[in-house]
Amino acid sequence: MGSGPREDFKNPVVNWIDERLPVFTLMQKEYGVFPTPKNFNYFWNFGAIAMVVLVTMIVTGIFLAMNYTAHEDMAFDSVERIMRDVNYGWLLRYIHMNGASMFFIAIYIHIYRGMYYGSYKKPRELLWILGVLILVLLMATAFMGYTLPWSQMSGWGATVITSLFSAIPLVGDSLLTWLWGGFSVDNPTLNRFYALHYLLPFVICAVVFLHIWALHVTGSNNPLGIEPKGPQDTLPFHPYYTMKDSFGICVFLVFFAFMVFFAPNYLNHADHYVPFDPLVTPQHIVPEWYFLPFYAILRAVTFDIGIPLTKIVFIEAKLGGVLAMFGSIALLGFMPWLDTSKVRSAKFRPMYKLALFGLVAAFVALGIAGAKPAEGLWLYVSQVSMAYYFAFFVVILPMLGKIEKTKPLPGSIHEAVTAKAK
Ligand code: HEM
Repeated sequence: MGSGPREDFKNPVVNWIDERLPVFTLMQKEYGVFPTPKNFNYFWNFGAIAMVVLVTMIVTGIFLAMNYTAHEDMAFDSVERIMRDVNYGWLLRYIHMNGASMFFIAIYIHIYRGMYYGSYKKPRELLWILGVLILVLLMATAFMGYTLPWSQMSGWGATVITSLFSAIPLVGDSLLTWLWGGFSVDNPTLNRFYALHYLLPFVICAVVFLHIWALHVTGSNNPLGIEPKGPQDTLPFHPYYTMKDSFGICVFLVFFAFMVFFAPNYLNHADHYVPFDPLVTPQHIVPEWYFLPFYAILRAVTFDIGIPLTKIVFIEAKLGGVLAMFGSIALLGFMPWLDTSKVRSAKFRPMYKLALFGLVAAFVALGIAGAKPAEGLWLYVSQVSMAYYFAFFVVILPMLGKIEKTKPLPGSIHEAVTAKAK
C-alpha cells in the first residue's frame, strides 16, 4: 500500500477528497485493479468471510456491552435480561455467541487452506506469522468472552485454564494471584476479563490490517503454488473477486443465520445457563468446541518427563501438558522453516498431502477426545493423536522436503488454466 500517481475520478466530491487524502486512489489500487491470480478456488473466500465475522462480532458486542453489567452479582442476570427484555437482545446475543463459532470455522478452514497450498512459504512467512498471532489473540478473546455470562461453565472454565499458570516453576502461584486479582476467580477477574474482551478485538483489527498489508506486498498465493509471471496470469480484483467473495460470504451467512435462528444453543453447554457457584464444581468442565483439540493435548500429558527408572524429573506432568498445549500452537509459526520442500502446493506433493490429511484426522480425533473424560480409551486416542501432531511438524515436514518426489509443475498459471478448460 504505497504512494504513486493519483487516480482521476469522475465524481467531483470524490476527486476533491482524493486530492487532499488519496484514500480512493488507495482503494482503487489495492482493491480495484489489484492483480490477483486468476485460478483462485472457493477456499480463497475465507479471509473475506473472517473479516465479515470480525466486524459482526464487534458491532453486536458493542450493543451487548450497552446492556451488560460486569459484576459478579449482576452479570448472569444482565445477560438473562438481554435475552428476555432488551429489544432484539436475544438476536444480538445469539449472533455474538454463535459468531464466535463461525469465526473459528472460518479461521480453521483459512489456516488449512494455507497449509494445503503452502501459502506460509517464502515470501509469505511474515504474513503467516501475523496470522498465527491473530489466532492466539482470537483464542484469548473467545476465552475471556465465555467468562462474561458468569455461568458455571464461565467460572469453572476460567478457573481451570487460569490455574494452568500455577504450573510455571517458582513464579506460578504469584502470577496466578496477580492474574485473578485475588485468591480465586472472583469479581476482579470478571472485571479485567471484560476490559480485555472489549479491547482485544481492536488489537485484532490492527493485526489484520498488517496481515492484509503484508499480503498486498507479496501478492496472493494460489492453488498451483506458482507465482504469476505476467498479466496473462492475473485478473483485477474488482469485479472478479469482489463478486466471488460476495457470493461466498452470502452462502456462509445463510449457514450462520441457520445456526442463529434454528439451533442457537446446539454448540452450547447446559451448564452455561446455570449461575456460577464457586462451591459447586460441575461434573464435566468442557470448553467450547474450538478449544477441544488443544484441551485434549493439555490433558494427554499424564506422565512426568525425566530419566526413566530413576526419580529424576525434569518436567512434571502438569507443566508438560501446559507446554505441549502452547507448543502445539507455537509450532504453527515455525512452519515456513520446518517445511523444507521447494514445491508449495500439496497438489504436486503426494506424500505431504497424505501427511496433512493425517494431521486433520489427528486434530479431529483430539477434538472428540477433548470432550470426553481424560481416561481409558479416550486418553490413548489423545496421546496417539498428540504424538502424530508433533511428529508432523518436527519430523515429517522437515523430512518430506528431502525424500518426497514431487509432480512436475505447470509452466504458468495461464497455461494450467487453459489446459484445464480445453
Ligand atoms: C481475523 C482473522 C483473519 C482475517 C480477517 C484474515 C484475512 C485474510 C484475508 C482477507 C486474506 C486474503 C484472502 C484470502 O487469501 O483468503 C488472507 C490471506 C492469508 N491469511 Fe489470513 N486472516 C485471518 C487469520 C489468519 C490466520 C489465523 C492465518 C494463519 C495462521 C492466516 C494466514 C493467511 C495467509 C497465509 C494468507 C495468504 C493466502 C494466500 O495468498 O494464499 N490468516 N487473510
